[in-house]
Amino acid sequence: MEANAQRDADSQARDSQAKDRQDADGQANFDRVIKEDSRIEPKDWMPDAYRKTLLRQISQHAHSEIIGMQPEANWISRAPSLKRKAILMAKVQDEAGHGLYLYSAAETLGQSRDKMTADLIAGKARYSSIFNYPALTWADMGAIGWLVDGAAICNQVPLCRASYGPYGRAMVRVCKEESFHQRQGFEILLELAHGTPEQKQMAQDAVNRWYAPALMMFGPPDDDSPNSRQSMAWNIKRFSNDELRSRFVGMMVEQVRVLGLTLPDSEIRFNEDTKKWEHGPLDWNEFHEVLAGRGPCNAQRLERRREAHDDGAWVREAAAAYAAKQSLKTKEYAA
Ligand code: 3HC
Repeated sequence: MEANAQRDADSQARDSQAKDRQDADGQANFDRVIKEDSRIEPKDWMPDAYRKTLLRQISQHAHSEIIGMQPEANWISRAPSLKRKAILMAKVQDEAGHGLYLYSAAETLGQSRDKMTADLIAGKARYSSIFNYPALTWADMGAIGWLVDGAAICNQVPLCRASYGPYGRAMVRVCKEESFHQRQGFEILLELAHGTPEQKQMAQDAVNRWYAPALMMFGPPDDDSPNSRQSMAWNIKRFSNDELRSRFVGMMVEQVRVLGLTLPDSEIRFNEDTKKWEHGPLDWNEFHEVLAGRGPCNAQRLERRREAHDDGAWVREAAAAYAAKQSLKTKEYAA
């Protein structure tokens, strides 16, 4: 009996030593890849904290794309022309596609899409604050495209170089499509800004409403951003939240002139010393309220997502039954 117990203990010690060696080799390889600014792929060893932070960011991002369909989908039936309707429909479909690429990227880290969806509809998962604001007029379709997709591009182009391969590669396609989204938003605003005085006012009001929430998309100020430092050290994020926000303001300042509109911020200026764009104060209390689920549309967005999930149950069942049938057929042919 004692001999058996000793054999088990020896075997456990050997396994544990082998695991330690594997972890040490894995960590050394991981450190080298990050230092060389190369890519980590799904089967590579990675620290648990790296996996966790990627899952945190990618699932948040995926949920944002899915919830982000709602403010615009709401306007498809009210678009002012057939052409505008077709363009808006294509854009909303693109967002669904982005969500799917991102859920797939997250799945390569070991998280199932079912679990991520369950967390979202249970109200346990984060998604971007911006989608908790209402789209009140047609001009909001312009402001969302121009400002919200514009902020998304500014944030996501550097993510094309994220150290995790599946995330970076997903971002390349996402950014190409976001670029079309931003242009369509700009063009809606341009047309309204050159329309009747009422149309121009509607465009200006929409820009006024979406400007500050768009700036908050980049996340809290650097001093209040617990994750940025480590994410940058791991080459997931390439720039800090404030750095990206400042770049975005600089881009918008130029573009708003072409629109013939203004940004609702009299404190925007280029700081010659730091060579950075600065903006007026943002209401970070409002941001934290939205993140805590108390924004203008949080409840409505989650309710709509739950309904859509329930309505889609028959599609998931049919797809699963079809996949099972196909797999049975493949096995029968192979036998
Ligand atoms: N909305 C909701 N949550 C936010 C947020 C925002 N605008 N900004 C930050 N947060 C959350 C973070 O997720 C984090 O929460 P957690 O610790 O519980 O996960 C917390 O606030 C602290 O923020 P940090 O700055 O420390 O967090 P990060 O380093 O992760 O930076 C981020 C935040 C800039 C949003 C980063 O996660 C990121 O770049 N994500 C990828 C891009 C993304 O998620 N985009 C969604 C925008 S919408 C979109 O792309 C759709 C398009 O069609 C418009």
